[in-house]
Amino acid sequence: MKLWSGRFEKNTDQLVDRLNASISYDQRMYEEDITGSMAHATMLGARGIIPQSEADRIVQALGEILEDCRAGKITFSEENEDIHMNVEVLLTERIGDAGKRLHTARSRNDQVAVDLKMYLRKEIDTLQEKVRTLIAAICDKAEEHLESIMPGYTHLQRAQPSTFAHYTMAYAEMLTRDLGRLADCRVRLNQCPLGSGAACGTTYPIDRAMTARALGFDKPTENSIDGVSDRDYVLELASALSILMMHLSRFSEEIILWSSYEFGFVTLDDAFATGSSIMPQKKNPDIAELVRGKTGRVYGHLMGLLTVMKGLPLAYNKDMQEDKEAIFDAVDTVCNCLDVFTPMYRTMTVRTDRLRRAAAEGFINATDCADYLVKKGMPFRDAYTCVGRLVHDCIAGGKTLETLTLEEYRAVSPVFDEDVYQAIDLMTCLLGRTVPGGPAPDMVRAHIAHTRALLPSA
Ligand code: ARG
Repeated sequence: MKLWSGRFEKNTDQLVDRLNASISYDQRMYEEDITGSMAHATMLGARGIIPQSEADRIVQALGEILEDCRAGKITFSEENEDIHMNVEVLLTERIGDAGKRLHTARSRNDQVAVDLKMYLRKEIDTLQEKVRTLIAAICDKAEEHLESIMPGYTHLQRAQPSTFAHYTMAYAEMLTRDLGRLADCRVRLNQCPLGSGAACGTTYPIDRAMTARALGFDKPTENSIDGVSDRDYVLELASALSILMMHLSRFSEEIILWSSYEFGFVTLDDAFATGSSIMPQKKNPDIAELVRGKTGRVYGHLMGLLTVMKGLPLAYNKDMQEDKEAIFDAVDTVCNCLDVFTPMYRTMTVRTDRLRRAAAEGFINATDCADYLVKKGMPFRDAYTCVGRLVHDCIAGGKTLETLTLEEYRAVSPVFDEDVYQAIDLMTCLLGRTVPGGPAPDMVRAHIAHTRALLPSA
């Protein structure tokens, strides 16, 4: 029999139970549901709303149920719909009438909001740790490649000199912002809706500050209707995760390109690549491809959640039960991706010879060559035109800026001298880019140190 069966004359149809029940996925919040109930019962006892002795029995029995859940001894039932009613039924089975007092001054509406906030808060902490671990891996590899010159690209065309360290620290920067977004979301989430009741609070003299404190929230929420109908924190987390996945997806795309024969910039460890069932020679970057693919799945959850919420009048509507599978899967997906991406990245070999060859072939020192003329007094636009002519001559003659003779340089501008070769040497170009944020090894070293300082536990 349902907890709420009083005003009904029939049992629900089994088909209704199937669609209505959320226990198959919300049971993962048992820890939060039970600790939330323990705090609620403690407060009810402290305020004299239920007898202290009964509050004590409830808390003790809930503690035992929690232990049994952790030990895998509990089987939840679809008949009891969701985690909230399953726990309440278990409690009443164990301690009888005292258990029936637990739901005083509370609704499943504020209960589910508390549970979900506490659950996602814990997941945000886990996610942040995983992101920090990836950032640390990026910093470690960058430190080994401060002088591994490679082209920086625009339009996927070789552009200007960078290093593997400079290039990949761009991803550390993106992931650092992702950490900030997760932290922001956690701050806004951390207000306790318990006490909002079904929608309009309660007449019992409850102590909302007490339960908020006991459950690790900064304070109670300000409006009971908002308390039970707000799912912004779910949307914010899904947005932060979508942006994070977009970053992982771009990084994956680079790794897919870099591990191709055409680029050959990196070699994936055999443990993080896969073969083909027909082509014996293949070594495929499936992990990076899956991360790229799963990005679509996380975006899909964000869209789904936004759409579920967009037309809902205040306050709670059952539509909101749909939030859980979406956000749980988004969190799980991102965690799984980070768990594999980080060791894939750590074990990947960087082929510095290939980076260097790509750097040597693409006229990536052309800007530096123009700057050489500017330093000798020529306006930048004129210098730009001269070097454009040189590049044109190189392409026509199968040469590079390094292999042009001084006569060939002088034919374009008499300002050129012997020292041009030193000026366009890739190491000179690299060491000269000392602008903050630039690829000069000292600048990147400073960025790595600054980034590491943000990672206390990694
Ligand atoms: N299982 C529900 C959910 O996840 C809990 C809240 C149910 N509230 C209600 N009034 N039916 O949203």
